[in-house]
Amino acid sequence: MESETKLKVSILPDEKEVICNKGTTILKACASANILLNAPCNGEGTCGKCVVQVIEGASAPDSWEHQLLSGTMLKVGYRFACRSRVTDNIRLIIPSESRILKEKSVKASITRELHLRPNITKIFLKVQQPKERQGIADLDIVEGTIKRRFGSVETPLELIRRLPNLLKESNHKITAVIIGRKLTDLEIGDTAKEIYGVSFDIGTTVIAGCLVNLNNGKEMSIASDLNFQSGFGKDLKTRITSILRNPEDGLNELRNALIARINGIIAELVAKKRIGRENIYEVSIAGNSVMQHIFLGINPLSLVSATHHPVIKRGIDADASMLGVNINKTAKVYVMPTISGFVGGDAIALILSTAMNRDEKIKLAVSLGANGIIILGSKERMLIYSTSASSAFDGVHISYGMPASEGSVSDFIFSHKQKKMKDIELKVIGNTEPEGITGGALVTLVSELRRLGIIEKNGRIKSKDELKNSLDDAILNRISSDKEGNIFTVYSEKRKRIFLTQKDVKELQLAKAAIRAAIEVMIKILKITDDEISEVYLSGAYGNVFNTEKAVDIGIFPEKYSDRIEYIGDTSYIGAKMALLSKDVRAEAEIISNTVEYLDLASREDFQDEFSNWMNF
Ligand code: FES
Repeated sequence: MESETKLKVSILPDEKEVICNKGTTILKACASANILLNAPCNGEGTCGKCVVQVIEGASAPDSWEHQLLSGTMLKVGYRFACRSRVTDNIRLIIPSESRILKEKSVKASITRELHLRPNITKIFLKVQQPKERQGIADLDIVEGTIKRRFGSVETPLELIRRLPNLLKESNHKITAVIIGRKLTDLEIGDTAKEIYGVSFDIGTTVIAGCLVNLNNGKEMSIASDLNFQSGFGKDLKTRITSILRNPEDGLNELRNALIARINGIIAELVAKKRIGRENIYEVSIAGNSVMQHIFLGINPLSLVSATHHPVIKRGIDADASMLGVNINKTAKVYVMPTISGFVGGDAIALILSTAMNRDEKIKLAVSLGANGIIILGSKERMLIYSTSASSAFDGVHISYGMPASEGSVSDFIFSHKQKKMKDIELKVIGNTEPEGITGGALVTLVSELRRLGIIEKNGRIKSKDELKNSLDDAILNRISSDKEGNIFTVYSEKRKRIFLTQKDVKELQLAKAAIRAAIEVMIKILKITDDEISEVYLSGAYGNVFNTEKAVDIGIFPEKYSDRIEYIGDTSYIGAKMALLSKDVRAEAEIISNTVEYLDLASREDFQDEFSNWMNF
């Protein structure tokens, strides 16, 4: 009898492998690896719940799959596990929604619940003493005990060398630290509860870190600070120029500044919660493509070359010690995948935290920061555009612009008597003397000045003379002028003065026109109407203050969206946190990286027309 052909099925993100006969369905192959998939129609091919993505060795889709899965999905390897057969050695990813899960779930963002499946596991073991185990080797008894509770692990030689001493010192009561499928350390006693991670948003202007308990998924503390790299240039372009000017050390200088700030934030987080740095086992990172390249020590010059291609697109797992991140000696760092040279892990984090890649309804997500990101679509098709023209929202190129941090004005409250303004109240983060204004507060300020007639439709700030008959003296005296145009003072005390210039208003006009033009053109490309957009998410690090009504008022969004816009805060660290909590999310991030369509809108004529239209308020 002819022997059947045996084939290998590698399953991600579980990192499991099974051998099966040629022709076995993927559903059965997964079951033999103890991974149960949703299959409510019992493999009839009608429920559509057992979707997997075959990334290598996919067989041709059958007629059902052609009917029920879109062309884009089929192209990137999506198949029904109950219909698709193993005809070659294959590698596949199982999305979390296709699994039957037993893990704890946790609320990970405003829109998503996650099953807790971190990359790091700790298990407390009471290992049999030598006299109880009839000559069985130390390593076999430890790996065997772990196998019964967790599955097979690999143990590095360096740890095997230390094993006899560790067992003796701990009196055979020891905690196994497992990263992926590797036993990375054995800690004396029961330390299973001490397992933390930190997710980071490495923004161009601000770096924010969030300490997370990996046992229950809870956020414990958040800390942020300015990116020290600002000393090398406020925006990405000037930082890349600093690398070009100093090819020897430019990249290292930028990277060292970034790593120093990351280590500083970790120190602040662990001090606040009184835990040891050595109990942090993983850090996850999301940022724009340039920041992620710099973090990894990869020269980002290709991103500004004619082809704008990244050196790396997929997510990266690296040793924290190799990158200089000062946490547990065996810890890992996970860096999110990117979408293109212009669109980094911050965009993937935004998609993950809004779950718009999993929804049939069309949603719009906009991130206002040094790099504006606009995403429109649903699970069927998703478009993305990124613009560097929106740096005004991050305070860059604004006379008194600054990120949300102590001393920044986060909001203005205007008290009016009919059209006459009586006073302006400043909301300052930390209740200190104001130092500058956030992007969110800038939007409110310009919207209010428009309403009072101080700023014209075309963005010009009127002169004191032109307004003398329509405003109180209190406000009139805030208007002055210099050689570049008129100025509006928002704060003046002793020797400190904070004001808005004509150039600042122009910067905001450029930023809002780029975002609005992208929204209009993307709607056209998807051939949809405004009414088909079910929800609109606005993200950015503005210290939880962003007046969405004012964003509509100055024309960032169509008026129709007023009832659908939600400000959702800093989604970069939230998306990175989700990746820290679940290996499924990392697999999902790779899928997003390969399926979202990047648009080069700036070269389109209709984008340029819309851009000019929306320069006006
Ligand atoms: S189990 Fe229903 S489609 Fe596969």
